Formats: sequence, C-alpha cells, structure tokens
Amino acid sequence: MKNRTKLGTLGLSVVTLGALVAGCGTAPTTNTATNTASNGTSGTQNTTGTVDLSKASGTVVWAASPIAQTGIRNTLIGDFEKAHPNIKIQLVDLPSNTDTNRQSLATEIEGGATTPDVYMGDVIWPAQFGQSQLAVPLNKYLPSSFFTRFASGLVQGASYKGNVYAAPFYVDSGFLYYRKDLLQKAGLQPPQSWEQVVSDAQTLQKKGLVQYGFVWQGASYEGLTCDFMEYLTDAGGQVLNSQGQPTIDSPQALKAVNFMKSLITSGISPRAEVTFQEAQSMNVFDQGNAAFLRNWDYAWSNSQNPADSKVVGKVGVEPLPTFGGPDGHGTIGGWDLYVNPHTKNLNASLEFINWMTGVQAQKILATKYSEIPTNATVQNDPQVKKVNPVLNIVSQVKLVSRPSQTPNYPQVSQAIYTNVNQALSGGTSVSAALKKAQQQIQSAVSGNGGL
Ligand code: GLC
Repeated sequence: MKNRTKLGTLGLSVVTLGALVAGCGTAPTTNTATNTASNGTSGTQNTTGTVDLSKASGTVVWAASPIAQTGIRNTLIGDFEKAHPNIKIQLVDLPSNTDTNRQSLATEIEGGATTPDVYMGDVIWPAQFGQSQLAVPLNKYLPSSFFTRFASGLVQGASYKGNVYAAPFYVDSGFLYYRKDLLQKAGLQPPQSWEQVVSDAQTLQKKGLVQYGFVWQGASYEGLTCDFMEYLTDAGGQVLNSQGQPTIDSPQALKAVNFMKSLITSGISPRAEVTFQEAQSMNVFDQGNAAFLRNWDYAWSNSQNPADSKVVGKVGVEPLPTFGGPDGHGTIGGWDLYVNPHTKNLNASLEFINWMTGVQAQKILATKYSEIPTNATVQNDPQVKKVNPVLNIVSQVKLVSRPSQTPNYPQVSQAIYTNVNQALSGGTSVSAALKKAQQQIQSAVSGNGGL
C-alpha cells in the first residue's frame, strides 16, 4: 500500500476505498435510539417503545434514477416484496442527471409533499439536505447496530452536524476501461500514465483501429466536476484549502484543464465530448468507437451486456492513471437512500432501507450490476469479488472526494463545471475560466451563493 492517506471523513480528503468500505462501521455519535430489534438488524425506538420493522405494512413510494442504465430497480423491488408480502413498493422514475434530480426532489419536499417516502440521492447531498431538513435523521429512528454494516467513512459521508441523513446504498468510483483486443493488436500494454493514454490513443487512431482514443464526461454538469477532481488531484491541486478557502486558480488546476482540453483539440476525444454525460461516453465505447473510457464501476456490467454492447469480452479495467505514472485518483461517488420527513409510512420506509442495504440486495447489486456494495460483508465476500472485476482492483484506487461537506456545495460544483466546460468548448481561455471559478466559489463559500 503506497502513498495512501486514511482519513476519517469524506470532506476534503483523499482516501482509499479499502478505508471506506472494508473497515468496521462506527455508530453515529448522536444516536438516540438503542438497539432493540429482536433480529439484530432493524427496529425503531422512540420514547414510547419499540417497533418491529419486519411487521411494517403499506405502500412505499420509492423515487430512484436508473441504476447502471438497467432494470435493476425492478429486480430489487420484486425480491423485497417477496420477502415482505405486506409492503408494496411503487417506483417513481427519476432522471439520471444528479443535478436535475436534486432540484426536483428539493422543491417537492420543501413544498411538503408526503411522497416519495424514500428517495435515492447522491452521496454529495447530506449537507444540503440535512441543513434544509429535506431528509429524516436516520440515527434518531434506527438502532446504532444498523450502521455497523457500513464502513465508518461511508456513515460519516452520509452525516451532517452529527446526524446521519441517509443510508449508503452503493459506492461509485472512477475507473479506466480499455479495449484489450486493440491494445494487443498494436502490441501495447494497458497504459500506466495519462501520457501513455494519449500516446496509445494516437497510435490506435493512426493505425485506423478505432475512431476515438478516449471518451469521458465533459458536459456542463456534476459529472464534469467528478472528472476534473481526478486530474486536479493528480496534478497536486485542490478546490479548497484546509481553511475552506478556494485554491482553484492555481498552476495545478491549469495543468489539469489544459490536459483535458488537449484531449479534445488533438482529436483523441470527440468534439462532442463537451456534451457527454456518462451515458453518451459509455455508448461510444460500447459501440466499439473508442479505445479508452473513464466511467464508474457499473460501466463494466454495461460493457459486458450483449444487448447494449459490441465489445463484450474485449474490455479491461484498471485504476485511473496519473500524470507520469500509475495509481491516479478516482472520484468517490455513489448513491444513498433518504427518507422524506413528511412520509406517512416511516416504518415500512425504514424496513425498505434496511433490506436494500442488507446482504441479499447488496449481493445482487455487486454481482449482477458491478456496483460497489456498501455492506461490508458483501464487499469482502470472495465469491462476490470473483464475479465483479472492479471489486478486485478497488483497493488500489486512491479516492478523492468532492468538497461536499458544505450545504453550498451545489454552487461550488456549478462554478467548477460551468467554467471548466466553457474552457473545454473554447468559449473562454483556461486561465480566465479558473479565475472566474475562483471568484464564484469564493462567493459560494462566503454564503453568497444562494440555494
Ligand atoms: C455518479 C456518482 C455520483 C455523481 C454522478 C455525476 O452517479 O455516483 O456521485 O455525482 O455520477 O454524474
């Protein structure tokens, strides 16, 4: 294990996934409930006594965006309902863009909507949602034993000011996918550095083996912040310093964005890169039109699904590289399960969360859809690792988190992705874009960003 920092929280930190998902869970410090459940997994307690969640009934409206672009949500719902004949789950389909999701859920819940009862929300939301009371503090209702199924870093990532506002559902991390067959044809090894990604891509393109070298997420949205964080951290830079002040107008950020831009101007990445979210980049790769892809863990299962992919059996995956060498940074992402504070069916909602983060559901996520499970037992299961190749290399990834511990994170991220996207599109120079991002982040962290 080299060059790894193990930090306790997800705020402004670089950690390894091992530190996050393999460790022992820690109970939240402000838990007011005690463990009273007979089966050791779930039970709520308030001042009036104990409720056995497995006896809950009713309908739970679950709002969730597509996971790994597949039918996984219905598989999970079917299995949950089989095990809980008295609870029905009604799925509400949310858009896959995390920003659009956040805005519509926040508006609905702020307006007092009683449904959805449970919603899938990004790992970057707990500060904003906790601060604005858009989510139930789960530690007030679930026993501390519930939280020990997760590594402590995941629980802390879902917490804000001492309360746990969400249950970690699955972890995402950035990886580099490559076409094994093309590299072999050209006598090349999987790349060990960003420089090698560039030269291999150019070699494969010149030989006429593939149209594009490398596809990633360059559109003006949260995904671009994720990609940018990886290059920025590889270059030794930060968005905020340890005092929480912006440091994005820096030589390191200049190096990061110049590199990203050069991928487009050199023709390694398509011009349309500046409009690509996850789905578009994955589609170009899965159709056989790119040699390399930066995407999340679930892209593995998509690339191996014959219904969507022309490159089944031809794909390799490795941790993202860095400038001048291997072992680059991967942004930590993922999705949690939150409960609407206006829900009329708290117990059934809690039981749904309990089951979705339990062994059965987490095994399905990990083995069929190459998601990184949040349940530590499943994450460490050798049988699961056998079928999920990203789990085998997860411990090598140096994770970087976005500065999402502030309720104003949406403004911070927007300042990053709009300005970086402008620079990539050629609408402004890289240095002007970074200056503008610096000013906007300054205003967001001083509380002038609005919500
Ligand atoms: C993935 C990640 C999420 C991130 C999003 C950006 O869904 O899990 O954390 O915000 O991508 O597009």
